[in-house]
Amino acid sequence: MNIKILQFQLLKKIDFKVDYKMNLLKKINTLIVFLFLISVLSCSNSNNYIINSPNNNIQLDFQIENGEVFYSVNKNNNSVIKKSKLGIILENELNIGKNLEVINISKNTINNSWNPIFGEFDEIINKYNTFEVELSNGKFSYDIYFRVYDDGVAFKYFVPSQASISNYNIIDEYTEFNLNSDDTAWWIPGFSYRRYEFLYAESKIDQISKKYFSEHVEDISYDTLGIDAAHTPLTIKKTNGLHISIHEAKLINYSSMTLAPKGNGKLEVELYPWSDGITKVKLEKEIISPWRYIQIADSSSELLMSNIVLNLNDDPDPKTDYSWVKPGKYMGVWWEMIGTNESTWWQSKYHGAKTEKVKYYLDFASKHNFDGLLVEGWNKGWYPEWCCVGDGIPFSFTETFNDFDIDFLSKYGQKKNISLIGHHETGGQIQSYENQMEDAFKMYNKYGVKNIKTGYVNDVSKNIKVYGENGEISKEWHHGQYMVNHFQKVIDIAAKYKLMIKTHEPIKDTGLRRTFPNFISREGAKGQEFNGFSSNGVNHATDLPFTRLLSGPMDYTPGIFQLNNFRYTEPGSGIIDQDAIIPSTIAKELALYVVYYSPMQMAADLPKHYLKHPEAFEFIKAVPVDWSDKVILNSEISQFVTIARKDKNSENWFIGGITDENDRNFKLDLSFLDLGSTYKFKVFKDKLNTHWKENPMEYEIEEFDLKIENDSSTDIYLAPGGGFAMQIEKI
Ligand code: NOJ
Ligand code: CA
Repeated sequence: MNIKILQFQLLKKIDFKVDYKMNLLKKINTLIVFLFLISVLSCSNSNNYIINSPNNNIQLDFQIENGEVFYSVNKNNNSVIKKSKLGIILENELNIGKNLEVINISKNTINNSWNPIFGEFDEIINKYNTFEVELSNGKFSYDIYFRVYDDGVAFKYFVPSQASISNYNIIDEYTEFNLNSDDTAWWIPGFSYRRYEFLYAESKIDQISKKYFSEHVEDISYDTLGIDAAHTPLTIKKTNGLHISIHEAKLINYSSMTLAPKGNGKLEVELYPWSDGITKVKLEKEIISPWRYIQIADSSSELLMSNIVLNLNDDPDPKTDYSWVKPGKYMGVWWEMIGTNESTWWQSKYHGAKTEKVKYYLDFASKHNFDGLLVEGWNKGWYPEWCCVGDGIPFSFTETFNDFDIDFLSKYGQKKNISLIGHHETGGQIQSYENQMEDAFKMYNKYGVKNIKTGYVNDVSKNIKVYGENGEISKEWHHGQYMVNHFQKVIDIAAKYKLMIKTHEPIKDTGLRRTFPNFISREGAKGQEFNGFSSNGVNHATDLPFTRLLSGPMDYTPGIFQLNNFRYTEPGSGIIDQDAIIPSTIAKELALYVVYYSPMQMAADLPKHYLKHPEAFEFIKAVPVDWSDKVILNSEISQFVTIARKDKNSENWFIGGITDENDRNFKLDLSFLDLGSTYKFKVFKDKLNTHWKENPMEYEIEEFDLKIENDSSTDIYLAPGGGFAMQIEKI
């Protein structure tokens, strides 16, 4: 064994015990000096450093070989990431990955916990070992920071300001993740037309390509926008049984990362470029990359329990008050445009956002204790051809259509204890939005609006038009640094006005909600809306928990009860589109409130459809949006998942379970409930003749009391494409 490995492992072990064994210290100190002397004497052009996770299961190996830096990761002697290169190339061709030697290392052990303002747990353990290495080629130096957690490994680059580097712009980052060709990935295509709104592909790593996606998932052969790469989080089941997810955390003032297949199971980071196609990241005085991380688990269920993305972000600035950030539930004048197609966003005979209509929704939603009512189509700028290429009439964010009386409606809502939720569809016209943003926020403050849903429909993806001083237009990517900075600007300015933001067509979640809690939720995947105007198929709902949702909460907008014969061919036609169906069941729609975490959760259907199923609607009213604990009762990637969550404000639990096109019988282990306590169960479940396509709206309710013993369990049936939801009250 290389002497440095031995030395480092010894040092690490020593660190853990140092507090307790003071008299051992002297002997150890002698040993350290001895080892240090040997290591100084040993001369080699290859060095290894091994860093273990706190529980010693995960092992990071950092190597420097012939001046280049590499890392690999193992869990319990099973390979997670094989030897993979690290490095960045700067604009002036400076390759900071070559001719390097280690000039300094430092390490530490962190073990603390923190309490999120809202979330899935009331306490999050943050425990990891650090390894910080300073590298130099004799002219410049920089650091790579590593963290090894019990549930994954993370690293980031830090190039500090220094005289020998004159230009910090990045033209390439060649961080690698070297897997096996036979490992299976669940992915959506990067550099592609519709941002993150795709179904998920399941393939071997090397098959990640637009061609494969077009042949097996959705036809994107018309799309010649960019290279073959997958968005992150990228979920992988390895042939050795390990389940991993590769993603980034704390994406600030950088470009977002995709993973491009390079053959033989190797993935390399590809950053979205600026419109020049060359510069990836523009930086002035230093480089602080986002964290690149690999979440590592033994099973799909363990994968769903990690908080690594939040642990890699920081607490909010203590000087900023975020006590006004509150999770909540909302309804909306929305599905009647996007789903049932009865109304229009623009002014017409069928305009959705008419004062009388909105007043009815406010009455209904406040009667059923919702916190907010989203109203889309309230502002000038909507017209039939508004979608989807970021051209045309810019939206106004301060002028209302004259049939929407915001003054009256906001006061009416306030009397009924419900606030209007604002809507800013930008159409991807960023400069126009940024110019109006502050005025728009001030106006919403005046009307007591607390939440804004923003939107960025501009489907060409590399089509965010930025107008220069002389009218020249550059077209930026939706995921590049320009947009990363735009999304951050919105959050920062919104915080000044105490406004929560829920973004559709967002940048991906990288855990920033910990630091900026007013970025309360986002879409960022194919959500329910696609079942309205198109279809997600029956198997998309079980992909999301293992892919997109690993990065953070999603505004999926569940709770559609009218699952067929709901959509009109056009507003006013009176003709039902018989082909439109939501591939779900009512019991599954309820389950989604527990399975898909979101601190702002919508009851997406129309009041008239809820009135047809009042008992199931009671579950939506009762289900919390803020939790203190979670237990994964079973799961298999993209096939099924059952999640139990504990209400943040009571001793009650809720369980949601969903399945793909196959029906299933589960025996659920209830031993996570308090032993000896009695609970009242209310179960909403599919019937034996329920089926996502043939008979989606039949469900039954079962109620029973159960005293919890060691071996308590309950049996449940899930129909094809169905699910179940349970309310469990401690009595
Ligand atoms: C796309 C969003 O996802 C959807 O919810 C919204 O209604 C439309 N854009 C219009 O803004
Ligand atoms: Ca969308």
